[in-house]
Amino acid sequence: MKFFIDTANLDQIKEAQALGVLDGVTTNPSLMAKEGISGKNNVLKHYVDICNIVTGDVSAEVIATDYDGMIKEGEELSELHDQIVVKLPMTKEGIKACKYFSDRGVKTNVTLVFSAGQALLAAKAGATYVSPFIGRLDDVSTDGLALIEEIRDIYDNYGYDTQILAASVRHTMHIVNCAKIGADVMTGPLSAILGLLKHPLTDIGLAQFLADHAKANQ
Ligand code: E4P
Repeated sequence: MKFFIDTANLDQIKEAQALGVLDGVTTNPSLMAKEGISGKNNVLKHYVDICNIVTGDVSAEVIATDYDGMIKEGEELSELHDQIVVKLPMTKEGIKACKYFSDRGVKTNVTLVFSAGQALLAAKAGATYVSPFIGRLDDVSTDGLALIEEIRDIYDNYGYDTQILAASVRHTMHIVNCAKIGADVMTGPLSAILGLLKHPLTDIGLAQFLADHAKANQ
């Protein structure tokens, strides 16, 4: 399973990259705003800065909601860097734009997916990635992981190439469960990725090894 980090914070992206397990980055307009990135030139520069830190795909979301606007914005984003993936909302216009870009070999990520039907449509439109938001479904008493399972079944039935990018991951067990179910990618915060490292028996075991070594080498 690929690991993407879901942030526009350059320090966190650098920290995840340094760990050696990072495969890409996802951003969205809220995450960009959280870092105080505003104004077209600053936004575009920030995407390039992210691409220069990581080696994998970097999702950059369009703001336009109409087809022509999405095409114009998406083309501008994809020309920024060959790691850019054009992120499009799961709307009628977004699906049309997804088909336009996939026909031209531009990578796409269809975002804000909350049902199996939406994921089926994204695959039909040739999306590179589909982003079901599992945490936001959990927030409204709906099983986000069950959606990943449904999409996995549908994509496997027909051999769709679209990669299931489990998004809105909130904690470490989301990552583990996404891996068990067969999500192709997960995107989550640095804290959830670092949580995978932790086990008290590892800490206790290491302390014992070091203590025994020190005793033997006094
Ligand atoms: C996905 O691409 C989104 O950026 C993200 O995962 C949304 O997560 P949230 O629900 O924690 O805001």
